[in-house]
Amino acid sequence: MERAIAASTLVTPRAPGPLRGPGAPDVLELRPGAVTWDEAGTITYVGPPEGLAGIEPEWFEGCTLAPGFVDPHTHLPFLGWRADEFEARLSGTTYRDQAGGGGIRRSARMLARASDEEVLAFCRPLLREMLAHGTTALELKTGYGLSVEAELRQARLARRLAAEAPQTCTVTLLACHAVPEGLDRAAWVRAACDELIPAAAAEGLVDAVDVWVEDVAFSLEDLEAVGAAAAEAGLPLRCHADQLGPSGAAEAAAALGARSADHLNHVSPAGIAALGRGGTAAVLLPTATLLLRATPPDVPALLEAGAVVALATDCNPGTSPVVSMPEAVAIACALYGLAPNEALVAATANAAWVLGLAPAHGRLAPGARADLLVLEGDGFRHVPYRPGHDPVIRTVVGGEVAWER
Ligand code: NIG
Ligand code: FE
Repeated sequence: MERAIAASTLVTPRAPGPLRGPGAPDVLELRPGAVTWDEAGTITYVGPPEGLAGIEPEWFEGCTLAPGFVDPHTHLPFLGWRADEFEARLSGTTYRDQAGGGGIRRSARMLARASDEEVLAFCRPLLREMLAHGTTALELKTGYGLSVEAELRQARLARRLAAEAPQTCTVTLLACHAVPEGLDRAAWVRAACDELIPAAAAEGLVDAVDVWVEDVAFSLEDLEAVGAAAAEAGLPLRCHADQLGPSGAAEAAAALGARSADHLNHVSPAGIAALGRGGTAAVLLPTATLLLRATPPDVPALLEAGAVVALATDCNPGTSPVVSMPEAVAIACALYGLAPNEALVAATANAAWVLGLAPAHGRLAPGARADLLVLEGDGFRHVPYRPGHDPVIRTVVGGEVAWER
């Protein structure tokens, strides 16, 4: 039995990611629009309601159909919050001071003390909240293990969470996030490259490898070493790049053929040019920028250079305790000047490409998975227009209603 849904407006990227450039020329807007899908949860039709061959659609007056959000950068699974660090930053402490030794290691200790069941019980409601905010696919990351065994444990927990969540989840090994207590940086990078990455790959635990390049974290040489180990294991490379200061990480990630360079608050002109030309996506994390009260990246220049721009929440207890892609979209538009339809492409088609989930995810088109949203309002512009408000009326995952207001 085919199922059909129709609304006053339908918006979707026209093509699968990666899509480049300003102005979001690649968004299809239908007024009204309809979608049908089959029993396998695969879309069979996207177009005007007149084209529905004899099927009566469920009709949403004054609403907008859109593809489900894809959140391509989160730090789930973790356990416990760090609100006191946010408060301390409001009175002068910097994240640079906190990150180097404190915050990330603190989350590692909380994770280490908790049982597997406690971690999953903490994360389940967060994934549920994500569903209520329209996220139908997302990235999970390690990086709070900080030993070979504890990183593998976090990756296994991520796979367990993925198996039970309605959303499609990929897992990234954040092999170099902070230097474990009692080790020097070089020793940890060696362990990550020689033991952790091969072990995670051999067990099929991860889909990508990530490194934080920063003066308080890891160096460009470390990125190269991890990139080589990831390539050896057949895994794409990602990079936390130029977040707190300029390090040349974006251009280095592009030169290594990384899938993405993320954050980019202090990306250099050379980094912008490299991302513009290359196949490395620019993943923007506007809620982390807002909550760190950091310098925004030069997003107009990234778009102008032709970069593949994606948006994510960066959901983590340190810099961005945010689960909502509508919030990330709203802040990206208000703070970075993205147009609503540019943000739509960044939060769907391009985000799916970053996770290796295109073309099945990230747009409404025949053959794609029926992951779709019914949103309040007349067009995608309502999402950034009302920050703090959840615009999602219904979230459909694989053709089934997974959440409804
Ligand atoms: O993406 N900058 C590095 N990592 C995270 C924050 C991790 C934490 O503070 O727990 C980020 O901002
Ligand atoms: Fe991050």
